[in-house]
Amino acid sequence: MKIISVVGARPNFMKIAPFIKAIEAHNQINSPKIEHILVHTGQHYDDRMSQAFFEELSIPEADINLGVGSGTHAEQVGLTMISFEKILQIKKPDWVVVVGDVNATLACSVTAKKELCKVCHIEAGLRSGDMTMPEEINRLVTDRLADLLLTPDRLSNKNLKKEGVTDERMKFVGNIMIDTLEANRSKAEKLSVSQIITDNLIEIGSNTSVPQKDFAILTLHRPSNVDNEVVLSNLVDLFCDEISKELPLIWTIHPRTVKQLKNFGLWSKLLNTNNITLLQPLGYHEMLKLNIEARIMLTDSGGLQEECTVLGTPCLTLRWNTERPITLRENGGASILVGNNIERIRNEFFDTLKQNRKPERPELWDGKTAERCLKAILENS
Ligand code: UD1
Repeated sequence: MKIISVVGARPNFMKIAPFIKAIEAHNQINSPKIEHILVHTGQHYDDRMSQAFFEELSIPEADINLGVGSGTHAEQVGLTMISFEKILQIKKPDWVVVVGDVNATLACSVTAKKELCKVCHIEAGLRSGDMTMPEEINRLVTDRLADLLLTPDRLSNKNLKKEGVTDERMKFVGNIMIDTLEANRSKAEKLSVSQIITDNLIEIGSNTSVPQKDFAILTLHRPSNVDNEVVLSNLVDLFCDEISKELPLIWTIHPRTVKQLKNFGLWSKLLNTNNITLLQPLGYHEMLKLNIEARIMLTDSGGLQEECTVLGTPCLTLRWNTERPITLRENGGASILVGNNIERIRNEFFDTLKQNRKPERPELWDGKTAERCLKAILENS
């Protein structure tokens, strides 16, 4: 059997790493072996957004890199489809495996179906209901087309059922990202917070004095938070004038956000605020260590919401909706939706500081999801 699996952007790498390990483990004891080809679309190309994760998570170098790079959604999706079609015609895989909800997920699932390849979607069935999110469109199209839908939780199966997906096409396998978290937790624990800060300062001049514990971490990259000048500038005021006065704030900044902060003239205020530390995008282990030690996380990332749930880090999710309701406090998780309403963020921030860590492990978030994914593919071949 021949499988092509696809990655494109940072949140894909921690999902594909355990799947590749599961194939390697299978091939050690079974014959005939599975032939595996890893395709990187090249959407994320900076070392810190891509190569660093391959090294840290021991992902073998991609067999093929499509080099699509930055661009509009149509450019990224279009260029990926044009190149991926050629790969499929030459390699003729039995299965194309896509993960998550980025542009690569959509582009490669559509192309694969048109080339009559079977498609498996890992992390199927998540729905935010928000059609202004590019990721929601990517999820909907991919799940409509995929032959095998592997879901991280039972709520996702319910979503798929509502859309008319039959039981034979879907399987609840658990959250594959947690395989990576569990495999890397002890390595992350050994790192030092001060070393992480020294190694990743974004610019000389940014604050370096952060305690080992008792700090807040912030990540922000969604267009709804960073592409609008008023929204971003109100958030920056809140971080500089209030949040960082209460707790040292470490902000690991996505390239899209750096660009916008500079465009909107907000950069120097941040650099000159004493209790804020600005860091480059971190490696996997470094981010995990900060998450383990932080008093509170503020983020608009879906993956971090999930990691906070398992680690118990209280999390303010700077979005109005989530495709991952299992991570919300009302469902046993660690996160609460605060959107980008300043008063709401402020109130929930001070409220949340009174809470303790409460690690929670949703069903089948047990570190063994990748094995179940591969088993499901083999059973459906
Ligand atoms: C993408 C994903 C999003 C995911 C996020 C995590 C889609 C639709 N979105 O959004 O789901 O949560 O990745 O990071 O696929 N850039 C660099 N270096 C890089 C990559 C990007 O400088 O290595 C810059 C680009 O110039 C671009 C901006 O960052 O302007 C945004 O990158 P892009 O790939 O368009 O989307 P993300 O916002 O990263």
